[in-house]
Amino acid sequence: MTSPRMDAPARWQQCAECGVRLDELDSRTACPDCGGLLDVLFHTPAGRATSLRSAFASRVRIAGAPHEISGVWRYAELIMTVPAAAMVSFPEGNTPLVDNERVSAWAGCQRLQLKHEGMNPTGSFKDRGMSVGVTQAKRVRARAVACASTGNTSASLAAYAALAGIPAVVLVPAGQVAMGKLQQTLAYGAHTLAVRGDFDACLSLVREAAQRLGVYLLNSVNPWRIEGQKSIVFELLQQRGWNAPDWIALPAGNLGNTAAFGKALDEACRLGIIDRSPRLLAVQAAGAAPFYQSFESGFTKRFTTHAETIASAIKIGDPASYDRGVQAMRLTRGAVVAVPDESIMDAQSSIGAAGIGCEPASAASVAGTREAIRSGLIGAHESVVAILTGHVLKDPVPEGFSDRSRYAPVEIDASLSAIEHELSRLSRAG
Ligand code: F0G
Repeated sequence: MTSPRMDAPARWQQCAECGVRLDELDSRTACPDCGGLLDVLFHTPAGRATSLRSAFASRVRIAGAPHEISGVWRYAELIMTVPAAAMVSFPEGNTPLVDNERVSAWAGCQRLQLKHEGMNPTGSFKDRGMSVGVTQAKRVRARAVACASTGNTSASLAAYAALAGIPAVVLVPAGQVAMGKLQQTLAYGAHTLAVRGDFDACLSLVREAAQRLGVYLLNSVNPWRIEGQKSIVFELLQQRGWNAPDWIALPAGNLGNTAAFGKALDEACRLGIIDRSPRLLAVQAAGAAPFYQSFESGFTKRFTTHAETIASAIKIGDPASYDRGVQAMRLTRGAVVAVPDESIMDAQSSIGAAGIGCEPASAASVAGTREAIRSGLIGAHESVVAILTGHVLKDPVPEGFSDRSRYAPVEIDASLSAIEHELSRLSRAG
């Protein structure tokens, strides 16, 4: 097994707005000059594709082995190079890429694959970015870490901070976080503050707190989170034998993941790991669709909105990574669609009926794929990988969903005849 090369290209942090450079180990998470977002940059010389791909292939996963390489750290050269002992990892990643005929038929897509990020240790894709972000928190000797969250980031931060032994503070919008996610956050021991306000208010508060109180911010405005989340793209490309799909569909809220995907694809193309970039399909809930509105304006105008959707994970009205999201769309000739809550819930049911459990926000990627195929944006013959970002247990009975019968068992008497009756109903329905 080969380890990540320690002589890999040096990294630095750079302001996306004004170009100021910061050292790799600078603990600030915003530009000291203009307040802009930082990117992690490294040299991406062409001609390394073959050696990189064979290094990735050699890092075979042996589940449960003492030094199991996670689906994040397999791609260390493109993310962060640190000794194995410094990595804060459960491990995470190595998630399945699933073909399912029924879900494909529902979406009207002949070549649909589902990347099930709900299979990560805390049940969402956030674990990938958090593994790298908390590793960086340790490298910069953070005394505490913090984030604002619609629930998944907080659950993930709580777990990784606990693993690293660093105190964690999280801000969540009071009464608006799915119960499963809140319970996880509390169970992993994060100091959890329920703020009377929405996610956007929580995020601006925690950004201010991070700057003034010196805690290390681990929302996706932190560039190391983005680096970790890039591994979703590298892993799915490797699972496909480095054959890029035509499209990658993902739910879009704060746009950190959209930014990560754009960056990963850009780097993969520059390095020659893939020969063409898939297009990104960013999917928003119709009630929380400021990025969609901006896309419709040709990105000439930035919109914000008061967000309302059953997909609580993406109930965000003022995405922090807006500029990076626009860049990702431009780099990949991407598109943005918005789908109503009913369509998201239908997608979740259709995915569930195939035995794959994902939370509503995740189902948006499949609902959006269907919408894009119906409108002719995506051809039915094109290949699509849809990202299922979080597990079904996160949000078992979505708050505010009117058809609650879908989530309730049928109560019966304790008798064989009652079961017989139900069985006959089943075969009639089938
Ligand atoms: N899907 C799920 C399950 C999420 O939890 C999130 C974001 C997204 C998609 C959207 O990703 O924000 O990078 O565009 N959840 C954040 C949180 C906001 O706090 O857990 P994004």
